[in-house]
Amino acid sequence: MIKIAIFASGSGSNAENLIKYFNGNKRIEVAYVVSNKKDAYVLERAKKLNIPSIFFSNKDFEDGNEVLKFLIKEKINFIVLAGFLKKIPSNILRLFPSNIVNIHPSLLPKFGGRGMYGDKVHQAVLDNNEKETGITIHYVNENYDEGQIIFQEKCLVEASDNVDAVAKKVHQLEYDYYPKIVGDILNNKCYF
Ligand code: GRF
Repeated sequence: MIKIAIFASGSGSNAENLIKYFNGNKRIEVAYVVSNKKDAYVLERAKKLNIPSIFFSNKDFEDGNEVLKFLIKEKINFIVLAGFLKKIPSNILRLFPSNIVNIHPSLLPKFGGRGMYGDKVHQAVLDNNEKETGITIHYVNENYDEGQIIFQEKCLVEASDNVDAVAKKVHQLEYDYYPKIVGDILNNKCYF
């Protein structure tokens, strides 16, 4: 079995969508939800969906040692970031080369980087009068939103769109594509 850990800091609608998508899959399972926020709604969702979850403090994510021990103990093969707002420590990056992916709610390299998350991204898209925006699924490296791009999908930004309208379109693209792309990546990989 390929074991995924989903890292999330917030609501976790993408986490829920990923869990449901892989439910019953014979080769891939979401084994854990990991959060750096004790009261993140994603932990409620995990509970409802019967997926084990664990909290690590922001301090644990500074050096990554405890998190790394946990990932090794649980034999996690692949990490999916879904609204996870901390940087991944370098020891975890080293142990999971090309095995950590993130989704960003814009067409990177536009509107990425530190502090660019959630509605801030969509507001920047509107402020810049962009005619289109979308999603980027990419590998994770030591810099925010700079790892190799795996997949992008676009949607139109209408003149009448506000932040909520853009967020809704982008979220829909996330739900439509993130689980499928993660599945495609994992189906082309070999784990021992
Ligand atoms: C998503 O928009 C994703 O692109 C970004 O964080 C957001 C998480 O939303 N990385 P949710 O917690 O999955 O609802």
